[in-house]
Amino acid sequence: MKKLVLLVSLSFLGFGAANAADIPEGMGVLPTQVPVPADNPMSAEKVELGKQLYFEPALSKSGHFSCNSCHNLATWGVDNQPFSIGHKWQRGGRNAPTVLNSGFWSKQFWDGRAPLLEDQAKGPPLNPVEMASESEEAVVARLKDAGYAPLFARVFGKDGLTFDNMAKAIAAFERTLNTPNAPFDLFVQGKGDISKAAKRGMKKVADMGCTSCHSGPLFTSNEFVEFQYGKDTGLKSVTGKDEDDHVFRVQSWRNVAMTAPYFHDGSAKTLDEAVKTMAKVQLDTKLSNRDVSDIVAFLETLTGDAPQVTFPVLPRPTGKALNFKD
Ligand code: HEC
Ligand code: HEC
Repeated sequence: MKKLVLLVSLSFLGFGAANAADIPEGMGVLPTQVPVPADNPMSAEKVELGKQLYFEPALSKSGHFSCNSCHNLATWGVDNQPFSIGHKWQRGGRNAPTVLNSGFWSKQFWDGRAPLLEDQAKGPPLNPVEMASESEEAVVARLKDAGYAPLFARVFGKDGLTFDNMAKAIAAFERTLNTPNAPFDLFVQGKGDISKAAKRGMKKVADMGCTSCHSGPLFTSNEFVEFQYGKDTGLKSVTGKDEDDHVFRVQSWRNVAMTAPYFHDGSAKTLDEAVKTMAKVQLDTKLSNRDVSDIVAFLETLTGDAPQVTFPVLPRPTGKALNFKD
C-alpha cells in the first residue's frame, strides 16, 4: 500500500524520477568545481584575458590561427576533422580533443604529456604544424605590439606580460568551459527523464564493463590504458618504454555525441562505429545493433549546456597591422 502511494506521487511530479537504485554505481552529476592549481588562482579579469588570448590569432606566425581555430567553441570545442589544419595547411597526426570540461582531466593530450592546462597551452603557439610562432620571445613581442601589456599588468602585476602568464590566463579561461545540465544529470537529480533506450544503454555499459574505464561522473577513470588500435603508439611515443605501447588516456563520454570523428586518429566517423570498435578491442565483444543504438542513445544524454561565450574584442595597434609572416 505504501509503495502505491509513492508511485502515485512520483508520477504526479511528471517524471519517472530517477530512482537511485536504477543508476549504476559510480555514475553521477558533472561536478561543479574544477580543480585549480595553487599557483594560478581564478579571477574574473584573468578569465577575461584568457578568453582574449584563446581567440587571439596573433599567437600564430601567420596571424591566422587561434586556439579557437581547432577547438571552436561554437562547435563543442572541436573542429570535427580527423586531423586539424594548421600553419600552411599542414595537418598534424592526432585528432583535436574538445577543450570543454578539460579542467577535469588528470593530464592533457591523448598521451598525457602535459600535466596541466598551463603546460598544454604553451605547446600550440610554437608547434610548427599548429601556430608555428618562432619563439616564446616572438609571441610575447607580438602580444606587446598588439597592446596587451596593460591587460597583463592588471592581472599579473608590472612586467606581467610573459609566455608563462599567457598560458596561465588561457588555462583559467579553459577551467570555465564546463557543460552542466546534460539530460543524464537532470535525470539523476530527478529533474528530468531520459528515454527507455537510453536507460537500457545506461545499464548495458555498466553490465558489460565499459564503465570500468569510463567510470564516475566524468565517465573516465582519467587513467591511461592500452588501446591496441591503429599505428600511433601513444604514451610510448613520449616515454620510449614498451610497456607504454598504445597507451592512451580514457576519453570522457561527456559531450561525446558532438565531437565526431572519434579516437586519437579520428578514424571512427560515427559514434556507432566508435562504440562497436570499443566493445571489440577493449572487451572482445560483438554488440547487437540494438545494443549499439541503446548505448548511443545513452551517450547522447551526456551532452550538456555548451558555455555561452561572448566573442571578445582584442587589443590592436591603431593605423597599422601586426607583423604577420608566411
Ligand atoms: C592546428 C590545430 C590546433 C591549434 C591551433 C590548437 N590546438 Fe589544442 N590540440 C590540437 C590537437 C591535434 C590536440 C591533440 C594532440 C595530442 O594529443 O597529441 C590538441 C590538444 C589540446 C588539449 C588537450 C585536451 C585533452 O583532452 O587532452 C587542450 C586543452 C588544447 N589542445 C588546448 C589548446 C589551446 C589552449 C590552444 C591555443 C593556445 C590550442 N589548443 C591550439 C589541435 C590544435
Ligand atoms: C580498458 C578500458 C576501456 C574500456 C573497457 C572501454 N573503453 Fe572506451 N576508451 C578507452 C580509451 C583509452 C579511449 C581513447 C581511445 C583513443 O586513444 O583513441 C576510449 C575512447 C572511447 C570513445 C571515443 C571517445 C572520443 O572522444 O574519441 C568512445 C565512444 C568509447 N570509448 C566508448 C566505449 C564503450 C561504449 C565501451 C564499452 C563497450 C568502452 N568505451 C569501453 C578505454 C576503454
